[in-house]
Amino acid sequence: MNKYPLLKIKINKRRYIQDISDSIKKNKMTMGPKCFDLEKKIANFLKVKNVILTTSGTNALMMATILSNLKPFDKVIISNLAWVAATNPVLIMGGNINVVDTMPGSEIIDYNKLNEAIIKIRPKLVILVHLNGQAKYNKKFDQLKKKYKFFVIEDAAQALLTKSDFKKKSCGTFYDVGCYSLSITKPIHMVYGGFCATNNDKYAKYLKAVRSNGVPNNKKLKKKLSTSKGLNLKPSDIHAAIGLFSLRNAQNFSKTLSENYKEYEKSITNKKIKMIKLQGRMPIPNYATAIVQDIKRFFLFCQRNLIEVSHGVTTITETKTIRNPKNNLNNSIFISNNLVRLPFGTGYKKSEIRKICKILNKF
Ligand SMILES: Cc1ncc(COP(=O)(O)O)c(C=O)c1O
Repeated sequence: MNKYPLLKIKINKRRYIQDISDSIKKNKMTMGPKCFDLEKKIANFLKVKNVILTTSGTNALMMATILSNLKPFDKVIISNLAWVAATNPVLIMGGNINVVDTMPGSEIIDYNKLNEAIIKIRPKLVILVHLNGQAKYNKKFDQLKKKYKFFVIEDAAQALLTKSDFKKKSCGTFYDVGCYSLSITKPIHMVYGGFCATNNDKYAKYLKAVRSNGVPNNKKLKKKLSTSKGLNLKPSDIHAAIGLFSLRNAQNFSKTLSENYKEYEKSITNKKIKMIKLQGRMPIPNYATAIVQDIKRFFLFCQRNLIEVSHGVTTITETKTIRNPKNNLNNSIFISNNLVRLPFGTGYKKSEIRKICKILNKF
């Protein structure tokens, strides 16, 4: 048993049981009042017009990809450093994936290379991935979107708590659809869950139909006929009850995560472990991430000291789902090979982080 698990979350078991039993007593365990309440509260939190709750961040990405109307062989651009949850929907729909490198020492896409690729490839869809609460936006990218009219999905699964102040918008709400995870590995969670966020009412209506096997919620229609592709991706009130409780703690959780990350930055003095300097506007991290020298030996060292660590997000090229990428991808490959996630989460106290650092400094 690890003394310091990779993820320690703050949970209130008594409140969970109380809130779940409330949902059961209301006789509406499927998509009912708690789901709608959670959608409304997340929309207020993000200052976005529509939130469409679903069963995972992966399914939110599937719904958004269906909305993008991607056809077989349509071109899609994404960062090479991304979780496969964003690329699998594209593969399922038959799209062609093109990857772009990140900036040196960073998990953020290189916008110079991205903009170049957009001009060259003319994609139908671009997926921006905001890893570990870090989001950057780019004026030239915005101009290209206007010019070429490609669809943009923001994978903000790891960035719900990042409140970008740029144009007073939240991270993940800048373009067509933002997709977020509310799974238990995320600071705000409903055990399993996720959602799409959009300011476009037409898109929201479409996404609601996609969530319901493609059948729009039109009470005037006598027959339940599907009008688009879709799946049963409706969440339950039992999960939403937990989501509502979790969201109420958003501010506290943001503070704890920021402070714990700073504690790592302050207390790690070992030159072989270099914390990633978080980038973007007001990033709130989900993970404590460091670049480590001699990673194999580091994993063994941590194992011996009962500290659980893991790799971070790996590159899409390593998944072998795309053929012969010709571009230079050295930066993202470097991060994939050398980035380590250290024990983290809303349940960790600063004193525990200090103890972990004391051990890691001996590596
Ligand atoms: C960047 C990214 N995208 C998508 C997902 C998928 O979210 P979920 O686990 O809720 O399906 C994750 C989950 O960790 C993620 O980190």
